[in-house]
Amino acid sequence: MRDDHPESPQGAAVPRRPGSRRSFLRTGSFTVTAAALGTAGASAALTAPASAVPMTAVESARLAGRPIALTPACDGHETPAAMEGPLFKPESPERTDLVTPGVTGVGLELTGTVYDTTCRPLPGTLIEFWQCDQNGDYDTIGFSLRGHQYTNGRGAFRLRTIVPRDYTGRWGTRAPHIHTQVQTPGGPVLITQLYFPDDTRAYGRDFARLNASDGLINRACTIALTRTTEGSYNGAFDFVVKTTAP
Ligand SMILES: [Fe+2]
Repeated sequence: MRDDHPESPQGAAVPRRPGSRRSFLRTGSFTVTAAALGTAGASAALTAPASAVPMTAVESARLAGRPIALTPACDGHETPAAMEGPLFKPESPERTDLVTPGVTGVGLELTGTVYDTTCRPLPGTLIEFWQCDQNGDYDTIGFSLRGHQYTNGRGAFRLRTIVPRDYTGRWGTRAPHIHTQVQTPGGPVLITQLYFPDDTRAYGRDFARLNASDGLINRACTIALTRTTEGSYNGAFDFVVKTTAP
């Protein structure tokens, strides 16, 4: 099922349960917003809970006092918000690995850190991810390619997933993107979408053309990608968010 699709039976908003984690998110007292940045790649598959997330490449470099190449990290600019779209589903499973049985596609290991606007890492931050699959379809029945996790004590997260495909719906053909919500404890929700560089190679699609023709894209929310020898990708994206309501 395509996100934003006018013919979708769920084309309207997905029902939300009162008292859900989502509604808690909506009534919090901090703020979140993000800025796209970061680089460095991640590696290693992850199935461990968010609390046990291993150090990212950026963190390892910092700890060892090594220079962090190509990593702008945090500059204090909030990550831009974006439209949520109609296919968010509350009560997603808590997990860092979205590659469940039946999910195929070009692998993506996404890592990053959530910072406040003074560039302090934010532990315990809730991050929701949802996306379409390699065919451009969203799972509106179950929770395939949907999940939430919390940043670890260093404000870091790690997600194992696949590169989504483009799809055509209410807003025309959408460039491949991952929907995301970020919320510090008790804070407001940042809703945004993460995109892929023009030279991304997946599913025989022309990412440069898809990105150029998507009127909703925000290039500031582009994931930094490095291709692995296996043909999958390591990606990095740091969020910068407010921690108090405006
Ligand atoms: Fe979407």
